[in-house]
Amino acid sequence: METTMDTDKTLSKTLLEFQELKVHFPIHAGVFLRRVGEVKAVDGVSFALREGETLGLVGESGCGKTTTGKAIIRLVEPTGGKILFDSEKMGKVDLCPMTRSELRPIRSEIQMIFQDPYSSLNPRWSVGDIVAEPLKVHEPGMGHKEREERVAWLLEKVGLTGEQAHRYPHEFSGGQRQRVGIARALATRPRLVIADEPVSALDVSIQAQVINLMQDLQEEFGLTYLFIAHDLSVVEHISHRIAVMYLGNLMEIGPAEVLYRNPIHPYTKALISAVPLPDPRKTRPDRIQLQGEPPSPLNKPSGCAFRTRCPYAEPSCAEERPPLLDAGSDHQVACPIMMRE
Ligand SMILES: Nc1ncnc2c1ncn2[C@@H]1O[C@H](COP(=O)(O)OP(=O)(O)O)[C@@H](O)[C@H]1O
Ligand SMILES: [Mg+2]
Repeated sequence: METTMDTDKTLSKTLLEFQELKVHFPIHAGVFLRRVGEVKAVDGVSFALREGETLGLVGESGCGKTTTGKAIIRLVEPTGGKILFDSEKMGKVDLCPMTRSELRPIRSEIQMIFQDPYSSLNPRWSVGDIVAEPLKVHEPGMGHKEREERVAWLLEKVGLTGEQAHRYPHEFSGGQRQRVGIARALATRPRLVIADEPVSALDVSIQAQVINLMQDLQEEFGLTYLFIAHDLSVVEHISHRIAVMYLGNLMEIGPAEVLYRNPIHPYTKALISAVPLPDPRKTRPDRIQLQGEPPSPLNKPSGCAFRTRCPYAEPSCAEERPPLLDAGSDHQVACPIMMRE
């Protein structure tokens, strides 16, 4: 059977690739602010985003999802590794060694939608000014009239109206504010959108509307999404593939339906066990319940970061960080124990 680019994202080309990305934050303490340690927020993560896909990035709070997203546009400084981006303007470049000003021409191609639509919009600016701001930065030659028209067009694209450009964020509901955030992100015609828990702050009844909007916009503009969520049930429907992080490491990655139906890593199984089944009388056959909290990223366990909470852990798990092993069907798992069976 013939496969097309649309239905089979495995045929698409790579838009962005993390190679062993590390982001460590130094911790200073005492009167002399001596460096006493570091938070290994992202600790050697490798995966790629394919053009036109949505990759869901999931894991418990604090596992390094936001830091991974922010590293792309240098809202945090990478400490190691590479972030290869296939830029329309500059060709294939490693974003890690670039300075912010070197990054500026590419920034129009990569935009971010933030978790909290209440704090990510400047309350003193009109919605029109908020959406126009990236245009002023990236298309300084654009005239006032043209910019106004583009802003009105963008607001309509996200389900608002051009007249609402004169209103202020406090006049909008949470869902509408997130639509404004999406319009601002789309202003520069980006190719990659990093959406950091874009619906977590919204009422459950509004979440589906915003997710549907994002899907429509993806189709219309050929967008690639890195869709961050702490909750698997949110990413299940929108994602083509899902990547699972734990304490700064990638544990498993694969097509959404494969990962959902056939999770291999004990941590992914635990995350999926936590998603309620539609029929409450049913329980999952191999349910794993997570005990306790993840350890602090200041004191990461040696070897596999998950071993201290893993029911299948063996002494060898303490030795080295397990590599991602190929499980077939475009699916990779960082657990040699489960792959042995
Ligand atoms: N600027 C920072 N300085 C120090 N530690 C940070 C900073 N930003 C994040 N962290 C720490 O890095 C870890 C990962 O954070 P984050 O990427 O926000 O996780 P997530 O988005 O998955 O909840 C957490 O332990 C967090 O406390
Ligand atoms: Mg986060």
